[in-house]
Formats: sequence, structure tokens, C-alpha cells
Amino acid sequence: MLVKSTTIPTSLFLLAVTSFAPVRATQYNLAKEYSGSTFFNDWTFYNNYDNLTNGDAIFVSAQTATSAKLAYVDSSTSHAIIKVDNTTTVAYNDKRNTVRITSNDSFAVGSVWVTDLYHVPYGCSVWPAWWSQAPNWPTGGEIDTFEGVNMQSLNQMSLHTEPGCKQQSPTQSSTLVNSTDCSFQTNSNQGCIVTDPSTASFGQGFQGGAYVTEYASSGISIWFFPRSSIPSALSSNSSTIDTSTFGTPVANWPNTGCNIEQYFQPQQLIFDITLCGDFAGNSAIFNETCSGVCYNDYVIGSPSNYDNAYFEVGYVRVFSSGNTVITPSGTLSTPGSSSTGGSGSGSNGARCLGAEIMAIPTVVGLVALFSGYIFLF
Ligand SMILES: *[C@@H]1O[C@H](CO)[C@@H](O)[C@H](O)[C@H]1NC(C)=O
Ligand SMILES: *[C@@H]1O[C@H](CO)[C@@H](O)[C@H](O)[C@H]1NC(C)=O
Ligand SMILES: *[C@@H]1O[C@H](CO)[C@@H](O)[C@H](O)[C@H]1NC(C)=O
Ligand SMILES: *[C@@H]1O[C@H](CO)[C@@H](O)[C@H](O)[C@H]1NC(C)=O
Ligand SMILES: *[C@@H]1O[C@H](CO)[C@@H](O)[C@H](O)[C@H]1NC(C)=O
Ligand SMILES: *[C@@H]1O[C@H](CO)[C@@H](O)[C@H](O)[C@H]1NC(C)=O
Repeated sequence: MLVKSTTIPTSLFLLAVTSFAPVRATQYNLAKEYSGSTFFNDWTFYNNYDNLTNGDAIFVSAQTATSAKLAYVDSSTSHAIIKVDNTTTVAYNDKRNTVRITSNDSFAVGSVWVTDLYHVPYGCSVWPAWWSQAPNWPTGGEIDTFEGVNMQSLNQMSLHTEPGCKQQSPTQSSTLVNSTDCSFQTNSNQGCIVTDPSTASFGQGFQGGAYVTEYASSGISIWFFPRSSIPSALSSNSSTIDTSTFGTPVANWPNTGCNIEQYFQPQQLIFDITLCGDFAGNSAIFNETCSGVCYNDYVIGSPSNYDNAYFEVGYVRVFSSGNTVITPSGTLSTPGSSSTGGSGSGSNGARCLGAEIMAIPTVVGLVALFSGYIFLF
């Protein structure tokens, strides 16, 4: 443990226990927003071909994405567009340009991220995802909120971890459970997948809506709200949300089957769209919803195949139950108020931050307080 519990003054410790003990952490304060003209300011463009999932795609640099208008903010709507090149005829053996962006900041346990989407990418060969991971995958885990391939119509949600994390006794609305072992070593790294039964959740049937991902020590949960049923706390841009008011999540991985603090570390958020590759290009999966050959008939075929291969994003907001935002320089930034009951927020962050954080006594105090809290309960 980073901080010994003996360093916590007894009075502070008792205060922590009495005021936070009965509260499950469901209240979060707005800590970070990506929206409008500054949407792309705090992301890193991958700037390399897809050497991660063998896609026939080049994830372009920020400069190319901007000049080719593959990542831009639409001036009439203020929405961010993240897209595949749909204007270039690609030569045989070449790959098509597209985008993968990763948030510069990481978000520790005790965070909720929300994205408001107006359009999601689809089409034969197209493999989009909105997800997160820790930098040293599989250590620190991966949370896939939105993913699917080709002309599929249902969103697939999944965790990927080191061996030992399973989905057990979830409280979730979906009954489509594909797999419950999250280990990257099981089922060819399929993850523990829950599929959303709604055809409004992915692809052509998607009509807009918000995805909410809660990364809490009690478990990981995902909600999908079609635009007409987005909770008012989200649609009104409230600076505080309470996930206990959001109803049953569509997918849930409680800490009973997976010790969240053990298998997950601060997550970086990612939007990407790749083409073919290990998932979309798998011929048996490809044939389920598309005909022909993934690369030959689509990637190097008519660029108009990619007219629908774009994300249109209203915003990404990250809410925090404590000090869970970790910037690249290692500073833990504090959202508006620090009074909500975070169950263990900051402890993962502290582990990664090392020496730098020790120079900030108030933060160390908070971490100590929360660590003591975890330790007791
Ligand atoms: C985000 O990271 C990229 C690459 O590391 C860097 O170029 C950019 O300046 C960073 N943005 C901010 C706002 O720190
Ligand atoms: C992918 O390419 C980048 C840039 O060359 C490199 O830093 C990274 O290690 C590569 N990743 C893999 C998994 O090969
Ligand atoms: C998961 O199950 C659903 C429902 O049976 C199915 O449509 C989907 O293709 C499955 N996904 C995977 C990745 O096996
Ligand atoms: C949402 O509210 C935050 C302050 O709480 C503000 O910074 C942001 O601009 C607002 N976003 C929109 C889209 O109005
Ligand atoms: C998928 O379709 C292609 C082209 O029609 C065919 O060559 C291939 O054998 C099919 N693969 C599977 C697994 O059905
Ligand atoms: C490319 O896709 C966009 C939508 O993302 C569409 O507006 C445009 O007409 C498409 N075609 C060309 C040639 O740009």
C-alpha cells in the first residue's frame, strides 16, 4: 500500500467512516468536457498504420486529419466528426486513411464517461469503437462501451483483462451474454461480452443517443439511452450526476466476479475506426452481414462505401467522484466539489503517479482517507 493507515489522524479517519460508509458512490461531478471548437484539443492522433488489429487502415496524424477533414468540428452544429476517408480511390496493396484518437488524460476508478452521439460509423469492412484502456494492456484492463463490425445492428460491450476477472451475477437489462470470462487468454481474447438487444444501439438503426460508462470500485456499468430518453441530468448539462437515477444498466460487471481495483488502472478514452482486420475482416463474421471480400471489394472499391463511416459527437464528458483525472504531467486535477462520497477514487491514480503526487499533501491526504476507507470495507 502506498500510504500507511497509521499516518491518518484518527479523527479524520472516523469522520470518513461515519460520513461515507453507508453511501455507494453514485454521485459524480463534471471534471472534463470535450466539446465544440476545442473538442480535439486534448487527444493524441495515433499517426501510424493499424499495427494493433491488422486493419487495412492508416490512422493519420493530427495534421493530416485536419487538412483532409477526417477529424473536424462542424461549424454549423459544433459537433465533432471523426471519419474514414470517403473521397480517395485506394490502390491495391494500399490502406485507407482513418482516425484513432486517445485522450491525453487518464481517468481513475471513480469516473463516469458519457458521450452524446448523433451518428455512428457503419458499412461493410467498417469496425468502429468507443472504448478505453490502460497503457500497458492487458495490465490495467480495457472497457469497450461501443463496438461492432460491418452491417451488424447490435452494440457489443466487453471487458478485457488479465486472467481472473469474470462477469458474475450482473444487474443488467440485456439477456444476450456471449461470454463471461474477461481474460485476454480465453476465447482468443474475445472478452466478457454483453450484446445490447436494441437495433438502435449500433449501425444503420442508430438514431442518436448517449452512452454512459461507470468505472467504479463496485463494478463497471454501461447505459445506452436513445436520444428521446437521455436522462435530464445529461441533456441539461448538469454539473452533477447520480448514476443510481439512471435505471438498470444494459451491461454490468460487478466487483464480486472481478476485483475492479485489481484488474483495472486509469483508463485513456479512445475513438477509432479501422477497416477489416482481426474482427471485421474475419471471413466467417464478415459473411454474416456482408458479401464479397472485405479488402478487395470495399477498402479498395468505391470510396462512397464509406459515406456512413463517421462518428458525429455532441460531446464527451467525464464525471468524477473525487480526484480521478490524471493529466500527462501526472497532476491529479480536482473537479468543482470534493464532497461526494468516492469509494476509492484516486487510489489507482496514486499508484501510477509515483513521486510527483507525493509533493501534493492535500491530495495525499485524500488518497490516504480513501485508502483507509477501502481497507475497512
Ligand atoms: C496531447 O498530446 C499530444 C501528443 O502527446 C500533444 O501534442 C498535445 O499537445 C497534447 N494536448 C494537450 C492539450 O496537452
Ligand atoms: C505500432 O507502431 C508504432 C509506431 O511505429 C510503435 O511505436 C508501436 O510499438 C507499434 N505497436 C505494435 C503493437 O507493433
Ligand atoms: C452475441 O450474441 C448475440 C445474440 O445471440 C449475437 O447476435 C452476436 O453475434 C454474438 N456476438 C458475438 C461476438 O459472438
Ligand atoms: C456544460 O457545462 C459546463 C460547465 O459545467 C460548461 O463548461 C460547458 O461549456 C457546457 N457545455 C455545453 C455544451 O453547454
Ligand atoms: C465468405 O465468403 C467468401 C466470398 O463469398 C468465401 O470465399 C468464403 O469461403 C466465405 N467464408 C466463410 C467462412 O463462409
Ligand atoms: C463523404 O461522406 C460525407 C459524410 O461524412 C458526405 O457528406 C459526403 O457527401 C461523402 N462523399 C464525398 C465525396 O465527400
